[in-house]
Amino acid sequence: MSKLTFNTLDNLNHFYPAVAAVVSVRGGERPNALACAWHSALSFRPPLYGVLIAEKRFSHHLIVEAGAFAVNFLPFEKAEKIAGVGRNSGRDLDKFAAFDLQTEALPDALAPILQDAYAAYECRLVERHPCGDHDLFVGEIVRAYLDESAFDAESVLAVERLHPALYLGADLYTTTVEAPPRRLRGK
Ligand SMILES: Cc1cc2nc3c(=O)[nH]c(=O)nc-3n(C[C@H](O)[C@H](O)[C@H](O)COP(=O)(O)O)c2cc1C
Repeated sequence: MSKLTFNTLDNLNHFYPAVAAVVSVRGGERPNALACAWHSALSFRPPLYGVLIAEKRFSHHLIVEAGAFAVNFLPFEKAEKIAGVGRNSGRDLDKFAAFDLQTEALPDALAPILQDAYAAYECRLVERHPCGDHDLFVGEIVRAYLDESAFDAESVLAVERLHPALYLGADLYTTTVEAPPRRLRGK
């Protein structure tokens, strides 16, 4: 081996940074939201988006009960709200009130859409796959909401205007620097 050495499997933060999203859900008594760094697009047609949620999270059973969730993407300047919903449980407090989470007035939405988001996917839960201590919830995106000023004509995030919230692990957040995107198509 060159500069790589064997390491323990503790603190597996090596794969970060990852976009820190906020997953929101309608609750029986009140809505809830949690921070989610483990998420991914899964399919374009049909449009599927996956989030990995540990069974011990309060949100877990709310998502199963509601059969729906939303994935909200917030800018770096709202990282304190992401940390707030990621370090507290909806079992103990109303996070929407505690962290001033305002929602779009969409009575028919399957899950709360956050006004702080520059993009949000409203998802209907279509599959649940146990995966170690997390469950992969597969959502079919039924509606996508965008702040168009955050994107260019090809729906690519305009990182010179909008700084995404990136999570590093260990409660650390960062964002993109002022490096103009390079379009690389390979040889
Ligand atoms: C930046 C960040 C990312 C997180 N990502 C995930 C995740 O992908 N999946 C998960 O189950 N929990 C994740 N968590 C932990 C939950 O957000 C946290 O335990 C939260 O308090 C759960 O809230 P709830 O009990 O109201 O559902 C993350 C926490 C932070 C701070």
